[in-house]
Amino acid sequence: MKNIPFIDLAAQQARIRPEIEQRIRAVLDHGQYIMGPEVAELERKLAAFAGAKHALGVSSGTDALLVAVMALGIGRGDAVFVPAFTFPATAEAIVVAGATPIFVDVAEATANMDPVDLARRADETAKAGVLKLRAVMPVDLYGLPADYAAIRAVASRYGMKVIADAAQSFGGALGGKRVGSLADVTCTSFFPAKPLGGYGDGGAVFTDDDGLAAVMRSIRVHGQGGGKYDIVRLGLNARIDTLQAAILLPKLEILADEVSRRQAVAASYARHMQNRVEVPVIPSGYESAWAQYTIRVDDRDGVATRLKAQGVPTAVYYPKAMHHQEAYRAFAPKGALPVSDRLGNRVLSLPMHPYLDDELVAYISKAVVEAAAAR
Ligand SMILES: Cc1ncc(COP(=O)(O)O)c(C=O)c1O
Repeated sequence: MKNIPFIDLAAQQARIRPEIEQRIRAVLDHGQYIMGPEVAELERKLAAFAGAKHALGVSSGTDALLVAVMALGIGRGDAVFVPAFTFPATAEAIVVAGATPIFVDVAEATANMDPVDLARRADETAKAGVLKLRAVMPVDLYGLPADYAAIRAVASRYGMKVIADAAQSFGGALGGKRVGSLADVTCTSFFPAKPLGGYGDGGAVFTDDDGLAAVMRSIRVHGQGGGKYDIVRLGLNARIDTLQAAILLPKLEILADEVSRRQAVAASYARHMQNRVEVPVIPSGYESAWAQYTIRVDDRDGVATRLKAQGVPTAVYYPKAMHHQEAYRAFAPKGALPVSDRLGNRVLSLPMHPYLDDELVAYISKAVVEAAAAR
């Protein structure tokens, strides 16, 4: 039996460890641990990579979302539309800001926000006349960008902004444009397991809007105005550490190469398993950053147990949609969100990282096909 890691961060470290150590040493030498020169350098390079005018380093993907929501002045009495099938941080930022999340179902094919359900719920919310429709917050689940054209069409009908939760998709693209330039504001995460992952918490926000960027810069440091103790708005401590920026710089250098390696791994999985299990479908014009490789199977927990016995680790993102979570029950819609519910029972993520070799992909795929057939 093999002992396969779900994600192998050591392989990447072996590739660029001297560059990372050199960057860490430079920070120890200059000693500017808060907002040191590496933060500005990272922001410049992130913006250039994404094709966005502004990039700001922040303390996590969760704080990226909160900074964006606060900067847009979203709060009590405001509605923000968000997929029910997501990581808790997406809805959390909305509720922490005092606004109301409206859970939208996801599309069966992509597991991303369903623009048809979004349009229906936006219409219902507008007709009810209680909440002000302020923003749509699509999630690029597993690294695949959401359907931004269709979502933007609904958002603009109601004068709403689009805040992308791109925590999982940095390095992905849609219609030749990279993630970071697909929405009014884009929020990403540098959690270690993400496609661009640091050695701790971190994140970034992207926008082309000069005014919004300035407000987000202020919110990142307690709502500062012209001077350190000139506080002009409610803010946070949401800065990225200089050390984290230093570590991310050499990782950003190899991100494009790593995303293409992930794409090759995904293509290899698909070749081995197509027509035998439900493999992810990437619509034409989309490039996933492949944060996760997620198949769908019946008897998901049984399949996971059988795979574990073969040394193949798996993970479930996510077993329970947000409207079923105890803390969010007050926001549960009256009717069902059938696709989110079904996916919660069927999704299973397989090992995925840029350094997964073909022999292992073949071994894992064979084990998956057998485990799925062994019901
Ligand atoms: C979809 C999504 N949103 C937000 C986050 C939050 O990012 P962080 O862990 O950096 O706060 C994550 C991270 O797991 C995520 O997957």
